[in-house]
Amino acid sequence: MEIKTTTVPSDQLKPKPKDSELAFGNIFTDHMFMLDYHAGQGWHDPRVVPYGPLVLDPATAVLHYAQEIFEGLKCYRRTDGGLQLFRVRDNFRRMNESARRMCIPELDIDLVVEGLKTLLRVERDWVPGTQGTSLYIRPTIIATEAFLGVRPAAQYLYYVILGPVGAYYKEGFNPIKILVEEKYVRAVRGGVGSTKTGGNYAASLYAAEEAHKKGFTQVLWLDAIERKYVEEVGTMNMLFLIDDELVVPPLGGSILPGITRYTVLDLVREWGGYRVSERHIAIDEVMDAARNGRLKEAFGAGTAAVISPVGWIVYKGEEVEVAGGKTGPLAQKLYDEITSIQYGTKPDVHGWIETV
Ligand code: COI
Repeated sequence: MEIKTTTVPSDQLKPKPKDSELAFGNIFTDHMFMLDYHAGQGWHDPRVVPYGPLVLDPATAVLHYAQEIFEGLKCYRRTDGGLQLFRVRDNFRRMNESARRMCIPELDIDLVVEGLKTLLRVERDWVPGTQGTSLYIRPTIIATEAFLGVRPAAQYLYYVILGPVGAYYKEGFNPIKILVEEKYVRAVRGGVGSTKTGGNYAASLYAAEEAHKKGFTQVLWLDAIERKYVEEVGTMNMLFLIDDELVVPPLGGSILPGITRYTVLDLVREWGGYRVSERHIAIDEVMDAARNGRLKEAFGAGTAAVISPVGWIVYKGEEVEVAGGKTGPLAQKLYDEITSIQYGTKPDVHGWIETV
């Protein structure tokens, strides 16, 4: 399918921010990619167009029943100036899994990867070059049919927007403080917790706001049934190093299958030296291990957050410190390894990188 490109005149391009000023998710580039779907016609009309507002009928299905999915990935600038993507096809495979769960038609992965690269070539000057910065990529699908009956829509819009970013958390790569949520739950097995759909994030906001007011960066969710087992932090998966065992909550349908989570598991298994267990871990086990000095590290893994060490965990009013409130050696090694592959300063022996 031919990808049509309509560019913004050069005198109307937006000013680009300095790398040192970058935060997360507040600046967007000059262009976006779009693809339409109509029942009977399939996905069609791939195009790069100027970034701008979407015009939606007030009855548009996504605005009422939240039939929506998204992804998050990044484009990195190598030191030689070239651009590269990390595990991009894994993101689109996951997007298709989300699509199936939300009754949205699946995408042709080759087409959307080509569309993304076409957009990135138009926006190449927007990709920042400093270590820790990147161009964040947000592919999204929304149900666009104007219809109020509750059924899968017959029309969709796939679009991709881009924005230069720095660290996701204000703490950067420094340890964060998390609150174990006792009252609210994020997702339940059999629901859509493993689907990257906006509703999961909307459902997390209230508890996250309460936690922010108390000075916490994030909420650590427990399973919705027993309120006992650790699930994830809403913006990343969680890992715990207890003695020499790296424990990762298993993907049981209520946890997002994070690409960085898979990457951590792959790397640590290759390195050896740790037992890697994908198993249920009760919050009581985490707290006990912290109390008796066996919890060596706790950290999150996510695309936006990369590797984010956890320095303090609070549960039922008790605060435990992890790794002396510092970044532990495993979190540091993982951060260094993953970012070296992403920025191209280490060779990609896994086939994770695609150049733009
Ligand atoms: C990501 O890590 O890319 C995410 O989508 C998480 C969050 C920013 C919503």
